[in-house]
Amino acid sequence: MSFTIAIDGPAAAGKGTISKAVAAHFGVGHLDTGLLYRAVGKRMLDGVEPIEAALALVAEDLEAEGLRTADVAQAASKVAAIPEVRSALVDFQRAYARRAGGAVLDGRDIGTVICPEAEAKLFVTASAEVRARRRYAELYAGGAETDYETVLADTKERDHRDATRSDAPLRPAEDAVILDTSTLDIDAAVAQAIAVVAAKRKDG
Ligand code: DC
Repeated sequence: MSFTIAIDGPAAAGKGTISKAVAAHFGVGHLDTGLLYRAVGKRMLDGVEPIEAALALVAEDLEAEGLRTADVAQAASKVAAIPEVRSALVDFQRAYARRAGGAVLDGRDIGTVICPEAEAKLFVTASAEVRARRRYAELYAGGAETDYETVLADTKERDHRDATRSDAPLRPAEDAVILDTSTLDIDAAVAQAIAVVAAKRKDG
């Protein structure tokens, strides 16, 4: 039996941490689909044509190393607006979603486009200011030289591009449960996400 858990939302809302914890709790695999777009974005920065990069990518193992930088995030958001890049990555994501035993996929369009039939859907969000503060703390801890205002402007720019593109824009699926983490610590957010998924598993 497959059981797909779709977790969407904007950058730095807590999606990654929640998705990892939910996957570990239910003993299923986890695909961070943002890494696919980041890998294509990185290759674009290296001079590779984005559609070619997307077509080549699905044949390869993804290495997260080097894909978590702010420049790669912006490039990812740009290539993610190209319909041919998105379509090159669809089959790979759908196959992962239907793995035996179940899977967590996190991204922007999992509940709306990649897996509209997912058994459990969460939309994890938080205010832009809270998300920028979290991202800034991460970057600062990692030794990056930046300031909060720059991170906030970056966050808003990426949100805007991701939410206004014509192909698979960032938005909650109608049947997604919204989890706003603005005032939750990570343990509380994870506990709520697990409770939502556990209730869906019981229903199914
Ligand atoms: O989740 P992330 O920050 O790693 O995602 C990087 C970019 O990739 C994001 O700005 C938009 C794009 N993306 C997407 O369009 N669809 C997805 N399912 C995941 C990410």
